[in-house]
This record gives sequence, C-alpha cells and structure tokens, in this order.
Amino acid sequence: MRVIRDIPTLRALPVASPRVLVPTMGALHEGHLQLVDLARRHAGPDGEVVATVFVNPTQFAPHEDFDRYPRPFEADMALLESRGCDAVFAPGREAMYAPDASVKIIETAIGAGLEGASRPQFFSGVCTVVAKLFNLVRPDIAIFGEKDYQQLAVIRRLVRDLDFPIEIVAAPTVREPDGLAMSSRNAYLSPEERRQSVVISAALSEARLSMEQGCIGVATLLDRVRERIASGPLARIDYVAGVHPDTLEPVDTVGLDGLLIAVAVWFGKTRLIDNVCWRRR
Ligand code: PAJ
Repeated sequence: MRVIRDIPTLRALPVASPRVLVPTMGALHEGHLQLVDLARRHAGPDGEVVATVFVNPTQFAPHEDFDRYPRPFEADMALLESRGCDAVFAPGREAMYAPDASVKIIETAIGAGLEGASRPQFFSGVCTVVAKLFNLVRPDIAIFGEKDYQQLAVIRRLVRDLDFPIEIVAAPTVREPDGLAMSSRNAYLSPEERRQSVVISAALSEARLSMEQGCIGVATLLDRVRERIASGPLARIDYVAGVHPDTLEPVDTVGLDGLLIAVAVWFGKTRLIDNVCWRRR
C-alpha cells in the first residue's frame, strides 16, 4: 500500500481502472472499513482502491472538535492495508489549502436544513474538500456511507450539478452490537453516555417498525422518536426531523417515496447523528 502525503506524488501515481475512492477523516472503525471492502469489490482485480485520510479544517466551526479529533495515523494505515487498500492520500493542511484560498462550493438546497441548519459551515467545507479530492484522485467511483445520509445526498447533487464523471455508491450504516451507529466520535462518550446512547438507534428502529405497519402520521412518529430518545436522561436532542428521502424537505405525511427520519443528539460534549430511511418501493 502506497502512502502519499503530497500532490505531485499523487498525480504521478499510475492509474489502474476503475479507480475507487473512499474519502475519510481517519480514526477508522469498522464502518469505514466496510466502505473499503465495498470499494474493493467495485474495483475488482484490475482496479484500485484509493482511500484519503484528511481531517478537513474547513468543515469544522471554530468551537467544534477539530483540534481534539482523534488522529491514530499508524493504526489507520495498518487497518487500510489489512482490507486491501492500494493507496492512501493523507495530505497535510498546507498541501490542501493555500493560506489565501478563497474559493468555496456551496450547495443551496439539500444541505440547507438538518446538519446545515445546526452547522452552517459544514457542507460548504465538505463540498469544497470533496470536489478537491475528486479533482486530485480522479476516481471512476466514490463510496460514501448512509450514516451521513444528508452528506451523501449533497455529494450526489455536487456530482450532478458540477458534472463530475464519477459514480457515487452508497454503503449501509454499520452498527455496534447494541445498535449504536459506529462513529469516530463515539470514542468521546463517557461509559454512562455510551450506555445511554443506545436510545438513538432503538428509537429509530421502533420508528421503522411503525412505518412498516403503516397508518401513522409523521408528527406522531416523530413524537415517539423524541420521547424514546429522551428516555436517556443524558440525551439532549438537537433535531428529530421527518423529511423526503430525496429532497430532504420536511414532510407531514409519509408519501409514495417514503420517509427519512434524521436525528442529531448531544450526549455531554458529543454530538451524534443517525437516521432511518424507509422507502415504500
Ligand atoms: P468520516 O466521518 O471519516 O466518514 C468517512 C465516510 O465513512 C463517510 O462516507 C461516512 O458516511 C462513512 N461512515 C462513517 N461512519 C459509518 C458507519 N457507521 N457506517 C457506514 N459508513 C460510515 O464523512 C466524512 O468523514 C467527511 O465529511 C469527508 C466526506 C471525508 C469529507 O471531509
């Protein structure tokens, strides 16, 4: 596995086809690694898997966790190698951003609500860095996780609207045995917060059951999700929203296209997100 830290070396790397990209911020867990497995299957024996590890400063607000975001670099490299990754691009900040960088990409619809409402700088940081990674790595396919459902939808829009010749492939959310969605930020949770954090996935899987059984309004459904999450005394809800799975606009009935329930919940200083997407067809 090649570990590449600068752009000239990346550009000089011979290209095997198809090239499949897995962008990450490192602190890798099984959720990330299953993206690599999926990338490996899409790449096949002749193609190549390129992962990127870059804690992107432009998607963090000044008060957020950029400085304390975990960076276990050697362990990440060993994990990527063990899953058959061919190359890793892990640039420093100065390789990615000129000190006077002044161009940003702003998506104006899909990313406006939910995460975009709570973290106003987030999606422009994500879109800008992902567009840069697409230009640098020039993949045929890029893999993103459904754990960050809105991010995935924003990236699909970025690719469509800016004509990137890249196929976006979604990977299902990987969970801990008790249901908690895997996240690099789970490491911040105290033992008691970790124990209570199971209310998020429990609330969402109960909501899925109700949707499968039908005949329930979105408002009632969301109330039940809120109540279930609040049964964890340390949980502080940021949002619980029911939106259209493609437009991410709020809806008050479950339409033909189904429903996405997206949540963000604080446990102490840690903000966790999760979602369930139910489609009728
Ligand atoms: P990061 O949070 O490291 O996530 C990298 C990729 O892993 C994303 O596509 C995310 O959706 C996916 N992922 C994370 N946890 C997952 C889980 N439990 N199951 C399945 N997939 C999971 O998302 C980012 O980094 C950044 O915003 C990035 C796209 C790299 C841009 O900086």
